Amino acid sequence: MASDPSSIFVVTTFVLSLLNLAPIGMVLAKQPCQFPAIFNFGDSNSDTGGLSAAFGQAPPPNGFSFFGHPAGRYTDGRLLIDFIAESIGLPYLSAFLDAVGTNFSHGANFATAGSTVRPQNTTLHQSGFSPISLDVQYYEFNDFQERSLAVRKRGGVYEALMPKEEHFSNALYTFDIGQNDLTAGYFSNMTTDEVRAFVPDVLNQFRTIIQYIYSQGGRYFWIHNTGPVGCLPYVMERIPVLAGQIDEHGCASPFNDVARFFNQGLRKTVEQLRKDLADAAITYVDVYSVKYSLISQGRKHGFKQPLRTCCGHGGKYNYNKEFGCGSKIKKHGKEVLVGAPCKDPSSAVIWDGVHFTQAANKFIFERIVDGSFSDPPAPLNMACYRN
Ligand SMILES: *[C@@H]1O[C@H](CO)[C@@H](O)[C@H](O)[C@H]1NC(C)=O
Ligand SMILES: *[C@@H]1O[C@H](CO)[C@@H](O)[C@H](O)[C@H]1NC(C)=O
Ligand SMILES: *[C@@H]1O[C@H](CO)[C@@H](O)[C@H](O)[C@H]1NC(C)=O
Repeated sequence: MASDPSSIFVVTTFVLSLLNLAPIGMVLAKQPCQFPAIFNFGDSNSDTGGLSAAFGQAPPPNGFSFFGHPAGRYTDGRLLIDFIAESIGLPYLSAFLDAVGTNFSHGANFATAGSTVRPQNTTLHQSGFSPISLDVQYYEFNDFQERSLAVRKRGGVYEALMPKEEHFSNALYTFDIGQNDLTAGYFSNMTTDEVRAFVPDVLNQFRTIIQYIYSQGGRYFWIHNTGPVGCLPYVMERIPVLAGQIDEHGCASPFNDVARFFNQGLRKTVEQLRKDLADAAITYVDVYSVKYSLISQGRKHGFKQPLRTCCGHGGKYNYNKEFGCGSKIKKHGKEVLVGAPCKDPSSAVIWDGVHFTQAANKFIFERIVDGSFSDPPAPLNMACYRN
């Protein structure tokens, strides 16, 4: 039997596969990852309904470009996380906190607008920062993981709405958080030096959460760094800087410097996590650079007035904290909706002074999906491989 060449081939292939080797040529052809679920953690950059469920719906005209109505997102349509889900072939993520009409079979979203990594010592009402900080999002995830498995066992509709047990180890765990830790410091009147001084604590707490999720079976992590917060009207309006601190594209350098300082630390944290977590594939994604290039070179890509708020009212950037997107103002004795209609969000970068438009999110997604801004430089659908 062993003299039959075809059986020798079969045996050889079998032995090679036992040794975890593949015939030459197949080595390069890694199969794309099949993520059956996404579990997301973050702030408004990836909130698909968490804050809305707990503290009141995001008002119109949020959501109108794509969903046709407010959809728990602080933008006119889809967020980066929505484009990620689409690209992986999964439905949009239901917010964990949303008790109505949710379907968690392909993951859950723990992000809420205004979330920070570190718990804040202020209420949402006082400071605008969400009480659902990253540690709380982890408690929710932990609860979800345990209880969804138990609930699934009841069968029927419960089974159809909850993830399978193996989804927790095969899922993509996505993170986009940190921006609000920096702004929370500034908004409580800290100096740039004081903000920089607490960044290591923020990163430590972030690292702890990744370790916890890993210890519960999570393996594939996709981590966005923080964006150029110094280019956002809500920061520039609220904390004026000296003329010499405005860069050639109109952004406030001190805040962007702190964001980049945070990102350097985040990158080091990721490198350390790769050493500590032997089976984790962790992708660090430099969304800062893409967002900054969108603002600095947006005109080349069909975006107009990159720093001007689309859905807003008044001031240098068409942004006023007191009259935010979707709030009502009196104009000539009549009550009108701020930002309705916001003219042509498809050529605007900034939606409401704080968040990016769907068009901007799509632009960013298209540049990060192929791995051009990732470490390791692998595309989204290869993020399950540890390089
Ligand atoms: C909140 O207060 C605690 C206790 O004083 C302190 O350790 C923590 O750093 C504070 N958090 C922030 C974000 O300032
Ligand atoms: C939940 O979503 C999945 C994926 O889209 C779908 O296959 C399933 O039918 C949904 N379950 C219910 C009960 O709607
Ligand atoms: C920050 O400073 C401003 C101006 O002095 C003051 O009105 C505000 O209450 C301060 N905010 C905090 C959180 O201390």
